[in-house]
Amino acid sequence: MKILVLSGPNLQRLGKREPEIYGHQTLDEVHRDVAALAQTRDAEVDCRQSNHEGTLVDWLGDAQDYGFSGVVFNPGAYTHTSYALYDAIRGCGLPVVEVHLSNPDAREEFRRESKLAPACLGRIAGFGAASYRLGLVGLLDHLGSA
Ligand code: DQA
Repeated sequence: MKILVLSGPNLQRLGKREPEIYGHQTLDEVHRDVAALAQTRDAEVDCRQSNHEGTLVDWLGDAQDYGFSGVVFNPGAYTHTSYALYDAIRGCGLPVVEVHLSNPDAREEFRRESKLAPACLGRIAGFGAASYRLGLVGLLDHLGSA
């Protein structure tokens, strides 16, 4: 089973960017951890990051055709703004789990709304890098992987 793991804008700076909020792990380290977890579940992950909304829309739109079974997605600030990603998630034909390192509900007012949550299977937030792993576990359980 192949799972697409997507990260949106500014997450390439993980480890350096506001570590008191987002932690000290780099995105490469987060990706290594989800890959190791996937292996224990007979799954594999393809981990990608983009700062560009359209690229994320393209990747979501192509995911089913490329044989992915689901998506773990940290959309960064696009969470709070993007109707294009809402449509892409609804239209991609796959379950998508929204993940966040921080807990947006406990932060600034503008972060309390997710435009994407209504299109997603579920949401994991506030557990730092572990949010990605917990999101993957939830998704694999939902998909019924071993
Ligand atoms: C984030 C939360 C968003 O509000 C923020 O814009 C990010 C990171 C998180 O992982 O906590 O870029 O998605």
